[in-house]
Formats: sequence, C-alpha cells, structure tokens
Amino acid sequence: MSGSIIRTITNFSKSNEYRSKIHDLIPGGAHTYSKGDDQFPELAPAAIRYGKGAHVWDIDNNEFLDCSMGLTSISLGHAYPEVIDRVKQELEYGVNFQRPSILEMEMAERFLSLVPQHDMIKFAKNGSIVTTAAVKLARAYTGRKLVAFPGDHPFYSYDDWFIGKTACNKGVPEEIANLSVTFQSCNLQSLKDLFAQYPGQIACVITEPERSHCGHSCNCGYNPGTFLRDAIELAHQNGALFIIDEMITGFKTDFPGSITKYNLKPDMATWGKGIANGFSFCALTGTKEVMELGGIRNKGEEKVFLISTTHGGETHALAACMATIDIFDKKPVIEHNHTIGNRFLESCNRIIKQHGLEQFVQVINCNWMPVFIFRNKKKEICPGMRTLALQEMIRRGVLFQGAFVPCYSHSLDDISYFAAAFNETLSTYSKAMDQGYEHYLKGEPAKAVFRKLL
Ligand SMILES: Cc1ncc(COP(=O)(O)O)c(C=O)c1O
Repeated sequence: MSGSIIRTITNFSKSNEYRSKIHDLIPGGAHTYSKGDDQFPELAPAAIRYGKGAHVWDIDNNEFLDCSMGLTSISLGHAYPEVIDRVKQELEYGVNFQRPSILEMEMAERFLSLVPQHDMIKFAKNGSIVTTAAVKLARAYTGRKLVAFPGDHPFYSYDDWFIGKTACNKGVPEEIANLSVTFQSCNLQSLKDLFAQYPGQIACVITEPERSHCGHSCNCGYNPGTFLRDAIELAHQNGALFIIDEMITGFKTDFPGSITKYNLKPDMATWGKGIANGFSFCALTGTKEVMELGGIRNKGEEKVFLISTTHGGETHALAACMATIDIFDKKPVIEHNHTIGNRFLESCNRIIKQHGLEQFVQVINCNWMPVFIFRNKKKEICPGMRTLALQEMIRRGVLFQGAFVPCYSHSLDDISYFAAAFNETLSTYSKAMDQGYEHYLKGEPAKAVFRKLL
C-alpha cells in the first residue's frame, strides 16, 4: 500500500460536455441503465475512450483502475491480446453469411464439452435473449404459463416476464406480469409454498446459482449446492423445469461455473458476460429432451420458435468465446482471479478495521466478486454514504461502483493501489459519518436502477 502514488482526478470537462448532450440523443444516455449517469456521483467519467488490461481511460484521458470490468463481462482484461488476435483473424473472413458459419459446430462442441450435463446449445447476443428463450422453452415443454424466480435477486432479463415484476413495470401489461411469480432466494419453503399455491401451473424455476453473499454474510443455513439440488428435485416433483442462470457466476465461481462446481444438472443453463471476454456472445445450454423442442426434426410436431436472430452466430464473437475458453483451459485464470479476490478482501478488511468502521463499511467475503455495503452513523444502508465512497475512489483513479470483479489482468499492484485509495477514502468517510455526506458529496446520491419514479 505504501508504494502506491495516488492520482488525483479533477478534470471532467469533456465528460461534462458529453453528459450535457447525450440524453438528447440516447434515452437514459447509455445502453444499460446500470451504466447511466444516475448510477454514479457527479464527479465521475461520463464515457470511456479505451481500456487495456485492468485499466480504462476516459474521454478526458484520465486513467482509472477498473473494478466492474464491463458489468462483469471482462474476465481476462480489456483488449486482451490473444482474444483480439483471434477476433481480427475472423473479421478478415467475414462475419455473417446466408448459411451458418463452419465455426458454429466447432463452437457448439467446444462449449458443450465444458458442460457435460447438457447436450445442445443455442447462441445469442445478449443474456436477456437466452434467459427469455429458456423460459419460452419451459412453457412450451410443460404447456404451463407461470415462471418462478427469486424476487430478491436483481436481474434476469429486460423482457416483460422479469421487468413486469419490478418497480419499473410501466409498459408491461398486468396480464403478462401476473404470469411471473416470486419466491425468496435460498428459501426452499417459500418455493414449496409457491408450488402449493399454483398447483400444475409453474412451467419453470429460474435462479442464479449463487450470489456474493451466499455462504458468507447470508444466514439462510444452506450451502448453494444443497439448496439447488433440493430445489431442482422439488421443481421436478412438481412437473416444472429448472434453469440455472450462470450469467454472472459463469467463468467466475469456477470454470465453467457453479453447476460444475456443485455437480448440478438443471434442465437448462444460461451463459453470457465473461464467456467471451466482453464480446457479445451468450448461450443457452440444455438437455436434448428439452432443447430438441426448438429444432426442426420432429416431423408433425408443433414448431417452437426458439432463438432466431440475424446476429446470433457472428463469427468474430464465436472466435472471442473460443479464444477465451482456450485461455481458461491453458492458464490458471480462476486461481488467479480468486487469489486477487482474497488479497483484495484481506486488504479492505484490514483498512476498514484500522479506521474502526467495521459496523459501517462491509465487504462481503466472496473472492469471486467482493461487494460493499455502506451504512450511515445509524447503521442504515445509505445511498449518500455509498455515493460519497464512489466519488472519493473515482477522484483517486479507481472506477468503483461498490463491487470488485477480479479479472486475469488485475495484479497485486492494482490491489495495493485500490487499498491505498480506499484508505484515503475511508478518512473522508469517517468525517462524513459525523458531519453528513452532504458536506463532502458533490451532487445527488446515486439512485436505484429499479425505481418507480425518476
Ligand atoms: C443474472 C443475470 N441474468 C441475465 C442478465 C441479462 O444479461 P444481458 O444484460 O446480457 O441481457 C444479467 C445482466 O446483468 C444478469 O446479471
């Protein structure tokens, strides 16, 4: 920590110009709401010019240590050379043809070799497309309408079946929203209650396999593997399919993910984000029995229009995924990322303790994605204090949004840099606990993505 010379970033002039124009051109100013201006302090970069490894440079040419890594999609590092070289090669041969590229078979075999519990795969460009496709397939397979997911999990799709159940449900007909039902994560009884309440009506359960707090600050008493095994059995006993969404956990908790880590066999699994190091490549995998419904071989049966998109098989994205898998196969990426995560946790916990802030700043003890909780003097979770912490980290050259996603390009020096910036940030945090964050925060606290009113 002592060796790090901390940058001080105060020039956001081009960012401010960008911010002042972009909302006239793009609703929300970005292409996911979680990248939007309302998610960051006022003193923050508005747009990134480029990234290399674990660092990014903004429109004002300020350098930042990256923490969120493209909403967790960058597992190796920005512009990772082996991935870029492979993508460039494919670009030379053309990216989209009238018939499937020969890479599709190679990709399918390669990905399925990682997920031995599944027989078939469909590709797509976004995670929402594959989670929605899984839901559709489950409805087609079971002939039932309802979809169940944990209501306390943050995100599964931007499609109506999920958004209809959030606070931002404007534009989603109530009839559609009513087809989604929620249970409490890791609470088998609440899932049992749901099956009892809607007998013979639930087509599928979709859930992330684990989240940062699972097995750490969560006191549900379950190990994620045990819960998921029991939940899969329960769903099957009730005639429903089980879908595990590995969008975030895939290539992070393990390689390829939590279903192999816990040896689980869901009917389907959904993959995205880190599997192609930031390139737009996602996948739905599943058992033949279920996936074949989306095929064209069963003569005389009704056709299920599964995923059918112009860009789903773009060759450069497939190449990015194959290069990423090659690197995960050859290099100890998971071990490195978990070591970085462990070192990160040790450093942050030591600094929190040094500042006597254990009751107010917590970092969830999860080495694949440590997440922070920021509280005020009354020990309430406090968006203002959280935004102040973000502001102070960003001022010191760390593009921080309350979580750290270790990638293969993060080094121990990066962790030392984070720690030094975090140490200084907590000095300001301590003062703000007494005087109020308003004395130190420029602008408004960051807002929740899912809120009723703007
Ligand atoms: C668990 C989970 N599932 C699905 C999605 C949707 O992925 P995408 O944003 O690629 O549509 C996300 C996105 O954050 C996610 O976190």
